[in-house]
Amino acid sequence: MTKKLRKAVFPVGGLGTRSLPATKAIPKEMLTIVDKPLIQYALEEARAAGIEQFIFVTSRGKSTMEDHFDVSYELEATLAARNKKAELEALRQWLPSIGQVVYTRQQEPLGLGHAVLCAAQIVGDEPFAVLLPDDIVLSEKPCLAQMAEAYADVGGNLIAVMDVPREQTNKYGIVAPGATDGRLTEVKGLVEKPKPEDAPSTLSVIGRYIIQPEVFGYLNRRERGAGNEIQLTDSLARLIGEQPFHGFRYDGTRYDCGDKSGFLAANIAFGLARPDVGPGLADFIRGLKL
Ligand code: G1P
Repeated sequence: MTKKLRKAVFPVGGLGTRSLPATKAIPKEMLTIVDKPLIQYALEEARAAGIEQFIFVTSRGKSTMEDHFDVSYELEATLAARNKKAELEALRQWLPSIGQVVYTRQQEPLGLGHAVLCAAQIVGDEPFAVLLPDDIVLSEKPCLAQMAEAYADVGGNLIAVMDVPREQTNKYGIVAPGATDGRLTEVKGLVEKPKPEDAPSTLSVIGRYIIQPEVFGYLNRRERGAGNEIQLTDSLARLIGEQPFHGFRYDGTRYDCGDKSGFLAANIAFGLARPDVGPGLADFIRGLKL
């Protein structure tokens, strides 16, 4: 019996240096794809997978994210006074219920593993999801919901994976793969950002994880890895052999929004997929003389 997946951790403490100057005074997670901040896509994806508690690991300068998921009294009062019912409804419809979002801070930028460790007490002794909002997946069924379904079958640890060109292995966690069955590939090893010549494969981890709480024991050793950071990948690697561990080839297209061209591509792809702005955008693109 697998334990139900109820909690999700969003490591959102990073500085967003790759997106400067946009991210000088606003969190990178507040950058918008069409008309929604990245963090809202991530939260909605988690909710669609049945997540009930959203744990944000933030840092200084990230408070606009808290405001975003709070009621804006002035805005609501103004919309109500102007009788803008549809806008008011649209604004309320995606707000989390009271107490569903929990904020904690990563006090020092010591890496992704350290950020996840900051959520240990709030997660407690149960499985949890991790979503990196920089990674956004355009798909019919949200990526984490696809993973949650697979998790209900196989349990253990599950990471979303995709093949990347070999010259890019140094940007990702890379899987040493075992047997593949449909969308699932057994994980035999995991290495953080190996050089192309050292990489055990080209199967790379993207920012969606379902993890068992035993990982916290390893994270708490606070061992430094690639880039002298406390890496989530290294602690996950310790769970291999102790618990079931699978890579999951999700259905959909992933965009790296921490990268400027990935961010622009995501805006175009998500824009084209939207019934309200898609047709106009498609006309504009068709008319471009490239
Ligand atoms: C992190 C993880 C890496 C993973 C990547 C996915 O790296 O450490 O294993 O492949 O996210 O986006 P980062 O992008 O924070 O350097």
